[in-house]
Amino acid sequence: MKSSDSDFIKDFFENCLAIDLNEGAKLRLKALFNKLRKDNRVITIQDFGAGSKKLGNERKISTILKTSSSKGKYGKLLYQMVKHYQFKNCLEFGTSLGVGTNYLALGNSYANITTIEACESTRNIALENFASFENVKSEHATFDDFLSSKASKENGAYDFVFIDGHHDGDALINYLEKLKPFTNKETVYILDDIRWSDSMFKAWNKIVKSGEFEVIDLFRVGVLKGEN
Ligand SMILES: C[S@@+](CC[C@H](N)C(=O)[O-])C[C@H]1O[C@@H](n2cnc3c(N)ncnc32)[C@H](O)[C@@H]1O
Repeated sequence: MKSSDSDFIKDFFENCLAIDLNEGAKLRLKALFNKLRKDNRVITIQDFGAGSKKLGNERKISTILKTSSSKGKYGKLLYQMVKHYQFKNCLEFGTSLGVGTNYLALGNSYANITTIEACESTRNIALENFASFENVKSEHATFDDFLSSKASKENGAYDFVFIDGHHDGDALINYLEKLKPFTNKETVYILDDIRWSDSMFKAWNKIVKSGEFEVIDLFRVGVLKGEN
């Protein structure tokens, strides 16, 4: 941490990252991971982003868990952030199996969590994993279609946005721009896979240089907060 770091950045490292999962969350997540690890069902996925070409479109649920879900310290980061900042309106771009959404919902049962997924067969599996959450709303849409729909305007401004799909640099910049009417200067973003490709890393550097945000680089993910 540099001496010039802002209150937001100091607080993030000193307090937010110090939060541990509570026992209830640990048990729920353990059960979810056990279930998904054993799930040998194969689904046909439709790729709406810059997905891996190597994996093919027929995928086992257990493989999707391995390759695409938030786990370990990255899953915990979602939980820590939603708990620490007590966000009220959270938006997740890219639901996949709903693992990241579970971390968010377990971190704060009072937060409204809206999660967007365009691939229907993937979303159907996520719906199985949301059964007990009253605060999760799953939308079947592309990110672009969601942003131009009525549903996107129902919650007021989002104070937390997790962009975890369509890992293409130009698309990322575009989504941040299109999200402006739905966010404010207090909104905190997590951008996943900022070093996944040259185009993602270029976009990340452009965002950093823009001076529009306070920026925390956690190597795989970037955290942004609108500048005061
Ligand atoms: C990396 S996974 C999301 C993982 C999840 N956020 C988690 O934390 O466990 C990305 C998901 O985004 C979806 N996706 C990619 N591009 C999309 C787009 N343009 N519109 C809607 N969904 C998209 C993919 O179908 C995929 O399921």
